[in-house]
Amino acid sequence: MAEDYPRLPAGFRFGTSTASYQIEGAVDEDGRGPSVWDTFCAEPGRIVDGSTGAVACDHYHRHAEDVALMQRLGAGGYRFSIAWPRIQPTGSGTATEEGLGFYDRLVDALLEAGVAPMVTLFHWDLPQALEDSGGWLSRDAAHRFAEYAAIVGERLGDRVEQWCPVNEPNVVTMLGYATGRHAPGRALVMDALPVAHHLLLGHGLAVQALRAAGVKQIGTATNHSPVWSDSDSEEDCAAADLFDSLWNRLFADPVLLGRYPEGFDETMPVPAGEDILDDLATISQPLDFYGVNYYNPMQLAAAADGSELPFEQCEITGYPTTDFGWPVVPDGLRELLVQMKQRYPDIPPIYITENGCSYGIGPGGDGLVDDEPRIDYLDSHLRAVARAIEEGVDVRGYYCWSLMDNFEWAEGYTQRFGLTWIDYETQARIPKRSFDWYAAVIRANS
Ligand code: FCB
Repeated sequence: MAEDYPRLPAGFRFGTSTASYQIEGAVDEDGRGPSVWDTFCAEPGRIVDGSTGAVACDHYHRHAEDVALMQRLGAGGYRFSIAWPRIQPTGSGTATEEGLGFYDRLVDALLEAGVAPMVTLFHWDLPQALEDSGGWLSRDAAHRFAEYAAIVGERLGDRVEQWCPVNEPNVVTMLGYATGRHAPGRALVMDALPVAHHLLLGHGLAVQALRAAGVKQIGTATNHSPVWSDSDSEEDCAAADLFDSLWNRLFADPVLLGRYPEGFDETMPVPAGEDILDDLATISQPLDFYGVNYYNPMQLAAAADGSELPFEQCEITGYPTTDFGWPVVPDGLRELLVQMKQRYPDIPPIYITENGCSYGIGPGGDGLVDDEPRIDYLDSHLRAVARAIEEGVDVRGYYCWSLMDNFEWAEGYTQRFGLTWIDYETQARIPKRSFDWYAAVIRANS
């Protein structure tokens, strides 16, 4: 019940999160250029239901209604992303006024509604033209990214307080370039590692550009999971350790400690005559907050002989699962937060920049969406955050993924993470029971 909720610290920020390609639609409007996701969705077999983000939630045309929803929810924050190809259709050069104007109006509407915007600059919709010249495998992408960050920072920095340059660089590296499950669909396995370095460098260069533009607070939005070993065997533990380095440390150590986990320095691409230490100095710019996206722990075992990778992901048993099949492990969030504080004692204040679950429950005969499992999920994860705070972790906010159902990448519209039901035929927005529950939690805590 919202009323008996453990009190979160005064000023704790509640919010919701979305991303441009997942909600906006309007992919051919106002000069927007194609992104890698437009290209990827057009390839047969890439998206499970054959859908695309061409219309999605039509947020581009319905943003006023969506801001009104947020006002009704009462959440003080909203994290959204800017579509890079709306600002620079080919990823470099002059900015498009229509693109900047859209986000300008969105930011003003949010502020008027009492909602503090948190901007993500790159939530995966890379301009296709940049992918054509190497994408994140190319160091140039990091420099283009900084140029784009400067444009947006100068335009919105007077009103947007919080900035996350890159969403989940680990997911982009692994799913976009190592396994090919996501756009741009490259399956390079370990040869994808340069992508990690260029995304991290892009983060660092963007932080510098945003600081130069005078923005107030900069952080991250990195996906982290506690990594469990499948057994006590030495092989499984070593495999879990290696995966932990690849998934968590490879992306947090450079940002928070200014170094790569042992053994990774040598694998990173640095132009002849340049020193990786200079890149690491750029990557480890001081931050104002550290954003964590959490969904579930991961369990790893040593791979069978002859496998392409030295580890293998195992199913986590003994927990309920969401409709996506992801295990529901609220204490994994507490475990993760405590682990982050142990690994990085000087970590800046943490925000949960994403947490949520997919359940397909839709409107009943009475038109209401009774999504009790989502309430249980969110409730138990917020309690895990409260416990981590009691254990000394400085967590300042929680952003629920997501404000509304949306285009879930390779899963198309088959997974629904929203507090609001979207009827994709009519674009009607129907707040679910979890929406009212979240609103009550927010009221009780303010
Ligand atoms: C995260 C992504 C977000 C959404 C959720 C379910 O990894 O950042 O866009 O798809 O997963």
